Amino acid sequence: MPRISPATLFFRNAAQLITLAGPPVPRRGAALGELGIISKGGLLTEGESILRVGATRSLERQALRLRAEAIDCQGRVVMPGFVDSHTHLIFAGSRVNDYELRLRGKTYEEIAQAGGGIQSSARKLRQASPASLKEEALRFVERMAAHGTTTVEVKTGYGLEIAQELKTLRVIQSLQAESRLEIVATLLAAHALPESFRGRPRQYVDQVIKRLIPLAVGAADFIDCFCDRGAFSVEDCRRVFEAGRRFGLVPRIHAEQLSRTGAARLGIEFDAASADHLDKLSAADIRALANSNVIATLLPGANFHLGLKRYPPARRLIAAGAAVALATDFNPGTSPTLNMQFILSLACTQMRMTPAEAMAASTINGACALHRADRLGSVEAGKQADLIVLDVDDYREIPYYFAVNHCVMTVKRGRVVYAR
Ligand code: NIG
Ligand code: FE
Repeated sequence: MPRISPATLFFRNAAQLITLAGPPVPRRGAALGELGIISKGGLLTEGESILRVGATRSLERQALRLRAEAIDCQGRVVMPGFVDSHTHLIFAGSRVNDYELRLRGKTYEEIAQAGGGIQSSARKLRQASPASLKEEALRFVERMAAHGTTTVEVKTGYGLEIAQELKTLRVIQSLQAESRLEIVATLLAAHALPESFRGRPRQYVDQVIKRLIPLAVGAADFIDCFCDRGAFSVEDCRRVFEAGRRFGLVPRIHAEQLSRTGAARLGIEFDAASADHLDKLSAADIRALANSNVIATLLPGANFHLGLKRYPPARRLIAAGAAVALATDFNPGTSPTLNMQFILSLACTQMRMTPAEAMAASTINGACALHRADRLGSVEAGKQADLIVLDVDDYREIPYYFAVNHCVMTVKRGRVVYAR
């Protein structure tokens, strides 16, 4: 599939080159809307890196000297590849039954209590071979690349049993080896209580701490918990994070999605990389997040798919100075979309983020949420050459023309991994 992969590429004639240039730190407040646009922009890449960025005209001579292969962007928008910092990509089969039950009036939590939900995904994952899980995941990743995503965080979490979680981790490792996108692994150790541990969350957490976390070292960078009503308590999650930290895993947390539990505060206490969802924040939580390093990752795909009227309080978070990121939450239960462009549309239309804010939240701030902003998330000399070309001439048209794929080319580490 890689069509062109020379050492040196010259992208020319972008109507707007969205650089997001700036220090590799989370963008907050007014800075979230600063895209560093170069009109009639271009860039030179060499190997895996970006060599130089500027007006197309200013790069012509160097491009000639380097014998760079020219790629004419034909007046389209060029921007950093999307960093999708929250997905549950490894699962077997859809949850289309849950979907129909919800359309007929049941709630997400009612379905979960009746044995649907995460438990039903866990039953399917147990039956699935590692090879079939990997094949399916590779297909999803290819589709993500076609929609402009260049880096994907992938969680375990449908294993529930130790052995199945380890199986999932190994699938993620084989995905890392075979996929052309960058895959960042997270151990979602405490996602749902297995049926065999009903009423005994403490004992399950003991197992996670003793048997799972030590074996995840080297395979996962991050450790996540679903800290919510019907999932795990703040106390359970604190124990998981303490253990994870001892083994060098960096916390991130599913927080305040279904109910307010204090999970976001727990994330702050552990200097988590991100706190995600954040539907049910108090005013004090918003202030606390704004005063922390924790990236507030909003996942409006889940609200959309669950048919909720309320969305996370993006405007209040941004006004307070929190570092907001956007991600798909790609998973079979609550957000079966892998299209970051659609997430931008939801962020703008449903949460009133500006298109510029949504762009920064899904690139540089996503990179911050994965502790990779030194290398990813913007188009600047010295950074990794991860960029996309979209068939629009004004970046605001990305969320505006919603639910279509504008991406016509995806470049990862200086290689064209998708083009149409
Ligand atoms: O991010 N909230 C917990 N985890 C997922 C949903 C998991 C599922 O229902 O399969 C989420 O929404
Ligand atoms: Fe999630």
